[in-house]
Amino acid sequence: MSKILVTGGTGFIGSHTCVELLSNGYEIVIVDNLSNSKEATVDRIEKITGKKVTFYNVDICDYDALSGVFRENDIEAVIHFAGLKAVGESVRKPLEYYTNNIYGTLILLRVMRENDCKKIVFSSSATVYGMNNKAPYTEDMPTSATNPYGYTKVMIEQILKDMCTADSDFSVVALRYFNPIGAHSSGLLGEDPNGIPNNLVPYIAQVASGKLKQLSVFGDDYDTSDGTGVRDYIHVMDLAEGHVCAIAYASEHKGFEPVNLGTGKGSSVLEVVSAYEKACGKPIPKKITERRAGDIATCYADATKAKEVFGWEAKSDILQMCVDSWNFTKLNPDGIQ
Ligand code: NAD
Ligand code: UD1
Repeated sequence: MSKILVTGGTGFIGSHTCVELLSNGYEIVIVDNLSNSKEATVDRIEKITGKKVTFYNVDICDYDALSGVFRENDIEAVIHFAGLKAVGESVRKPLEYYTNNIYGTLILLRVMRENDCKKIVFSSSATVYGMNNKAPYTEDMPTSATNPYGYTKVMIEQILKDMCTADSDFSVVALRYFNPIGAHSSGLLGEDPNGIPNNLVPYIAQVASGKLKQLSVFGDDYDTSDGTGVRDYIHVMDLAEGHVCAIAYASEHKGFEPVNLGTGKGSSVLEVVSAYEKACGKPIPKKITERRAGDIATCYADATKAKEVFGWEAKSDILQMCVDSWNFTKLNPDGIQ
C-alpha cells in the first residue's frame, strides 16, 4: 500500500498530524533527525492510535539516506514539516537556517522527482504576509519577510510554485499556519520546546508549572482592544485535521495552492493569559515590558478559502486550547521522555 512520508513527524505539529492521518486510515513513514524532538514521540503516536509507525532517524539534507527511505517504501505523497523555526535564532544563524530549510527542501524535491512522487503539503506560515499587509490576511496578498526564517518560507513557496510551472502534474498545498497551540487531549503529545520558550503559550505554561517566575507582556500600547498584541491561535488538532484535508485535496488537484489555517479570530495576550488562568486554576504573574522587536499589533487569518476548498474550519476555542496545553504540561513536567 502506498504511504504518506511525514518529514519532521516527531515534532509538535507533525506528531499530532500523524495521529490524525493514522486515524483516517493512512499509512505513514516518519523521517526526522530529532534535532528538536524525541524518538519517544513515535511510541506515543502508536499508543494513541494503536497503529504501527515506520520511523527513520534521517536528515532530509542527506540525499543517500532519503533515497533509501523512498526505495524501501512506496511513497505516494509528502507532508513536509521538517525545518528550523525560531525567528531570533534564524537572525543569529542565517546559514544554518537557509541550509537546513532550503537545501533540505531541495534535496527532498530531488528525491521526490527521482521517485515520481508529485504531491506535497508544505508547512508554510502566516509570517509570509510580512509587515505590509493588514489583517485579515487573504492568500492572494503579496508575500515578504523580515528575517531569515521568514525568507525560507517565502523562498520555499516560490520554489514549489516554480515546480508546478515546470511540471503540470505537480501538486502543492502550502498551508500557512497562524499560531498553533494546545495539545492532544490524551496529554501524550504536546509542545515541548528546548530551553526558555519564545512563544506566548509555551511560556505561560512554564509560568503555570512554576518553572518560570512571570510572563513579560511585550507592550500594552498597540492599537488593539486592550493594547496587547492580537494573534489567531489555533488548536494543533484542528491544524492536524487541516493536513488530512490538504492531502486529500492534493491527490485530486494539480498546481500550487496556498491555504491559510487559522480560526479567523484574534485574541490578545491578556485574553490568552486570562483563558490560561481559568484552565489551570491559578493566577499567572505578569509584568508589562517593552515591545518585542519585529512584532506587529494584529495578525489573524481570513479563513474563508480553507472552508471553500477543503470544507474545513477550526472548531476549538481559546479556553479548550489552554485546557489541553495545561493537561499536557501537568502530565509531562520534563517534556516527552
Ligand atoms: P518542531 O520543531 O516541533 O518540528 C519540526 C521537526 O523537524 C522536529 O522534530 C525536528 O527535529 C525536525 N527537523 C528539523 N530539521 C530537520 C532535518 N534537516 N531533517 C529531518 N528532520 C528535521 O516544529 P513545529 O512547530 O512542529 O513546526 C513544523 C513546521 O511548521 C516547521 O516547518 C515550522 O516552520 C512550521 N510552522 C510552525 C509554526 C509554529 O508556531 N509552531 C507556525 C508556522 C509554521
Ligand atoms: C512568532 C514569530 C513568527 C512565527 C510564530 C510561530 C516573532 C517576531 N514571530 O509569532 O514568525 O511564525 O512565532 O512560531 O518571533 N508575547 C508576549 N510575551 C512572551 C511571548 C509572546 O507578550 O513571552 C506576545 C507577542 O508580543 C505576541 C503574542 O504574544 O503579541 C504571540 O507571540 P508568539 O507566540 O511569539 O507568536 P508570534 O509573535 O505571532
